[in-house]
Amino acid sequence: MKRKEILRKYEARPDNLLYILHDIQDASPYNYVTEEDMEEIADFLDLPYSKVYGTATFYSMISQKPRGKHVIRLCDSPPCHLMGSESILDLLRDELGIDVGQTTPDMLFTLEITSCLGVCGVAPAMMIDEEVYGNLNPKKLRKIIKDYREGII
Ligand code: FES
Repeated sequence: MKRKEILRKYEARPDNLLYILHDIQDASPYNYVTEEDMEEIADFLDLPYSKVYGTATFYSMISQKPRGKHVIRLCDSPPCHLMGSESILDLLRDELGIDVGQTTPDMLFTLEITSCLGVCGVAPAMMIDEEVYGNLNPKKLRKIIKDYREGII
């Protein structure tokens, strides 16, 4: 969906800012919002650009640089840490060949760290896009990555 179509879905109210940023990011093939996106949102909502930019940069879910088709967010809050998120992170680095904050050369995955996802009962946990995966272990993790690579998920 194009930027203008997305904006048309909303009333021009400042409290829609975050929803619009999310929608525009989701519609981007590279999972981010551009400067032009933010300028147009500012015009649409009649807000200063600095307000839109400030909101976009405040929320870690919104990116200002291109990311992979799938964004992996591994939880690193204490409960997940205790349950071995560090070894899961090592595995992800190995499996993807990238470090935190990087994107695979084929633009399929971006690897990020996040704080608690609210599913501590199934720690260690991660999200890929909107999907939560818990009770991670090496075998399960490899299978998930493989399924994304093959387009099964
Ligand atoms: S600490 Fe990882 S989901 Fe809560």
